[in-house]
Amino acid sequence: MLVSQHKDESNDKKTFQIFKVLLKLFVLLWEVSSLHLVILIILKVLQIFIPILQMFLVTRLIDRITSFLIPGASSELFDTIIHIVLLQIGLLILNSILKSIERIVMFQLKAKTKFYIQNEVGKKTTQISYENFENPQLYDEIYKASTGDRSLDLVDASVQIVQDIFTLISYLIVIGTLLDWRLAGIICVLFVISLIANMKLGHLKFTQIMNQTPLNRKMNYFFSLLTGKDAAKEIRTFDLSNYLMNKWKKVYWSSYSDQQKLEIKATLILSILDVFIIVTVNLIILYLAQISYIKQYSIGLFVAVNQAITTSQSSISILSMQISRIYNNALYAKELFSFLEKKNEITGNHTEKIFPERIEKGIYVKNLYFSYSTGKYSLENVSFEIKKGQKIAIVGHNGAGKSTLAKCLLGLYNPSQGEIYYDDLEIRDIERQSFTKRVTSVFQDFVRYQLTLRENIGFGNVEKMDDEALLNNSINKAGLEKKIFKKGFDTQLGTIFNGGVDLSIGQWQKISLSRAFISEAEIIILDEPTAALDPITEVEVFDKFLELSGDKTAIFITHRLGSCKSADNILVLDNGKLIEQGTHEELVKMNGEYAEMFKMQSEWYL
Ligand SMILES: Nc1ncnc2c1ncn2[C@@H]1O[C@H](COP(=O)(O)OP(=O)(O)OP(=O)(O)O)[C@@H](O)[C@H]1O
Ligand SMILES: [Mg+2]
Repeated sequence: MLVSQHKDESNDKKTFQIFKVLLKLFVLLWEVSSLHLVILIILKVLQIFIPILQMFLVTRLIDRITSFLIPGASSELFDTIIHIVLLQIGLLILNSILKSIERIVMFQLKAKTKFYIQNEVGKKTTQISYENFENPQLYDEIYKASTGDRSLDLVDASVQIVQDIFTLISYLIVIGTLLDWRLAGIICVLFVISLIANMKLGHLKFTQIMNQTPLNRKMNYFFSLLTGKDAAKEIRTFDLSNYLMNKWKKVYWSSYSDQQKLEIKATLILSILDVFIIVTVNLIILYLAQISYIKQYSIGLFVAVNQAITTSQSSISILSMQISRIYNNALYAKELFSFLEKKNEITGNHTEKIFPERIEKGIYVKNLYFSYSTGKYSLENVSFEIKKGQKIAIVGHNGAGKSTLAKCLLGLYNPSQGEIYYDDLEIRDIERQSFTKRVTSVFQDFVRYQLTLRENIGFGNVEKMDDEALLNNSINKAGLEKKIFKKGFDTQLGTIFNGGVDLSIGQWQKISLSRAFISEAEIIILDEPTAALDPITEVEVFDKFLELSGDKTAIFITHRLGSCKSADNILVLDNGKLIEQGTHEELVKMNGEYAEMFKMQSEWYL
């Protein structure tokens, strides 16, 4: 099953998973650019020593200045002070250079990683079978995986943490050697407590966001309805804006109120922790003052240890923030990795067979059953045969199962039971690319690509997109006049992008038909491709289609029975079952469902 639920695992396991995700992330970064990763880590390691060196210089500087201020001090002391200041300037410039290089390297690594992740998510999405797009959980999964963009923040945080941890350790060493190892131990314990609290809160936040995914998708849907073009017309004519705005507001505030509860809880816990850390650290400073008096520390030494204590305190809060950032983002990255690690569903096993260049016998459907997740059969025990080159019509009332049958024939849905054969090859054993080259379709809900006319037609046969003669030929066959397109095949269609022209639905439909005409497929499945055409054009297009399709096998779904007269066989579906089949004359003679439908339609049209 493609869709997985977010499970609540034990804390240990979760922590372990984070390390697994971090490891995967570093492997991914290594694949993206090992050079950038190595440079970045070297830069971070170099930067660890800067604050320690700086602390060392400050100690020396204060001691020298104190000695210099004593009356009668040697003027040579001033030279040493100048040396120390120069060293400090050098150190700060070095730090700034390291940071600048780091910024550029990080920028490049992030851009490369973003490209890598989006490319992989894109590739993976095309490998998900169409059937799964019926499942709303898939959209949630894709949505969650695309928030895997936050993995980039993880790159930042996890590289930063290498530096932060080493910096904290070096401060602890200073405190341990110059003051007391037990105090270094106490600071270490404070760090662990703060770490656990931040990880716990990070996890709670993550679970909340994951659980809110369906709600957020709904919120985005309402917003896109309000701001997009698709619904703009109906929203205005039915005056739906208030209703939709209210729906959006309700979802927005309900998701906000949950978030706020958690935010308050987090702030409370972290503030208590902060107070605890501040008090402890200041008690340690008091102890330092006492020790300095007993052991007669120099001012420089006192300042250095004091600095080590106070900066290790701020280091703890920076580190715990960094760790909660890692924790939080690692869980997003986990979703991304689990999406990327899904089994490919479309390209498959080596037993796949290549679709024949020319089909010999035809199509054979045997005891076909299909049900959507609702459980009810939308196709039930359907069997029929189509001989090579035949023109077949499929008719039936709305919801009879016509489109479902077309999608099964196209291999978009896997039958629940039964088989579909193209010659002697069962559809599930056929290699997909060879299949799509030879079997094409025009859907009822065809896509209006907001691209050029050339692309809109050329998508039927991408390799021939630049073949003007073929493009001309296909629009002629579909009955589309080229002169309405000012820039010819390079006219931009649709109004989403600048300079585009919009077309009538019938014109769009003719374009979708052109896609079938430009294709070199031998079998064409048309799902009501003429529904938006006016009756006269429809007859013209249909006759032309049948005439031009020559020895191609054509299966067309239609509600206008007039178009079926020239079909070699008509399949009548009702409630998922094949109830009648035969030629127009045979079915009229049979005086069953088809004859009834035909009689009624003749009355409407006359
Ligand atoms: N994605 C889906 N999920 C669940 N049920 C579906 C889905 N698509 C279609 N159905 C159901 O399957 C049955 C057949 O639908 P289908 O789209 O094949 O009908 P159709 O004959 O093409 O109808 P129309 O003439 O309106 O296009 C209907 O009862 C419909 O409710
Ligand atoms: Mg349909």
